[in-house]
Amino acid sequence: MKRLLPLLGLLASAAALSAEGNTQPTAPAPFPYFVANCFNCHGTEGRVNSAIPAIAGRDKAYLEETLKAYKAGTKQATIMNQLAKGYTDEEIVVLADYFSRQK
Ligand code: HEC
Repeated sequence: MKRLLPLLGLLASAAALSAEGNTQPTAPAPFPYFVANCFNCHGTEGRVNSAIPAIAGRDKAYLEETLKAYKAGTKQATIMNQLAKGYTDEEIVVLADYFSRQK
């Protein structure tokens, strides 16, 4: 029994730890699946530190106008012209809203 006591202690603290874990907010805020298409180049949630511009926390109207200009071909780009064509105007609004709300 003496040898079991430390084991019981361990189990108790493991239980305490997992109970503690349950009080933490677990699920991330839900977001539309297609915003993740942008994470590869612009970084997770639009935070990137590279030659590709970060889009997290940028002005919503700017993001929407820019994406629509890429889509229309009125703004020059290397890749965003093709990518923006894959989204409806409604989806572009969702994208602009999502990335403008990231920190
Ligand atoms: C293949 C890599 C790639 C992916 C995927 C990508 N982008 Fe881009 N994005 C770029 C690059 C590179 C630029 C700079 C303009 C250019 O050359 O196309 C850019 C520019 C932008 C800009 C303009 C930023 C500024 O400072 O003016 C916005 C807004 C933007 N992207 C939004 C998005 C959104 C929203 C998505 C997802 C639908 C996305 N991008 C997916 C590579 C990417």
